[in-house]
Amino acid sequence: PESAAEFVPEDADLAALRTAAAGCRGCELYRDATQTVFGDGAAAARVMLVGEQPGDKEDRAGEPFVGPAGRLLDRALADAGLDRDRCYLTNAVKHFRFTRAPGKPRLHKKPSVGHINACRPWLTAEYAAVRPAVVVALGATAVRAVLGTRYKVTADRGRLLPCPQAGADARAVISTHPSAILRAPDDARDEALAALVSDLRVVVTAIN
Ligand code: URA
Ligand code: SF4
Repeated sequence: PESAAEFVPEDADLAALRTAAAGCRGCELYRDATQTVFGDGAAAARVMLVGEQPGDKEDRAGEPFVGPAGRLLDRALADAGLDRDRCYLTNAVKHFRFTRAPGKPRLHKKPSVGHINACRPWLTAEYAAVRPAVVVALGATAVRAVLGTRYKVTADRGRLLPCPQAGADARAVISTHPSAILRAPDDARDEALAALVSDLRVVVTAIN
C-alpha cells in the first residue's frame, strides 16, 4: 500500500519534518496539489488539533486552517478560551484532494481511507515532536486517522478518550469539523458552533 513512511526522517523536530514533508510522494495526492500543507504551531503546544485535509486556500497558502473553516475554528477556539497560538494545527492528510471540471473552481473531495493511512506516518511524527496532552479530532476523517474505527463523531464527541498513540498519557477529544458547520443550514449553524465550543471546553478543562 501507499505510505509516507519512507519519507519521514527519524527523531526529527518540526522544522525537519516540514522540510521532508515538502518532498513526500507517499500517495498520488502530491501530483495535483500545489504543495504539502504541513502542520503549524508551537512545538510546546499541549493541544493538537487535527482536521481532514487542506482546502483550496490552504493549498495555495501552504498553511493549515487559513480559509473559511479556519476562521470559524479561530472563533470557536476563542470562545472556548483556547489560544490558537498555543495550539498545534494539522490535518490527517497533508495534500489537497479535489476534482476539477474544466473552467470550474476546484472542488474539495474527501480523502479515501488509503490516503489517510498513507499519510498517518506524518501525524505519528508530529505526535513525537509535539507530545500533545490532548489531540482534538475534528470530523470523521480525523477520527479515523487519530483513533481508528472504534469511535464515531456523534456517539463519542466531547469526552476525554485514551490516545496512547500520541503519548502514554495523551487523550483525544472528538468534535465536528468546522467545514461541516459552515455547510449546516442557517437555523442549525449556531447550535453546531456551540457544540464545537462545548467540546473545546472539555479540552480546556483537561489541560488546566
Ligand atoms: N479543512 C481542514 O480540515 N483543514 C484545513 O486546513 C482547512 C480546512
Ligand atoms: Fe505524502 Fe500525505 Fe501528501 Fe500523500 S497526502 S503525498 S502521504 S504528504
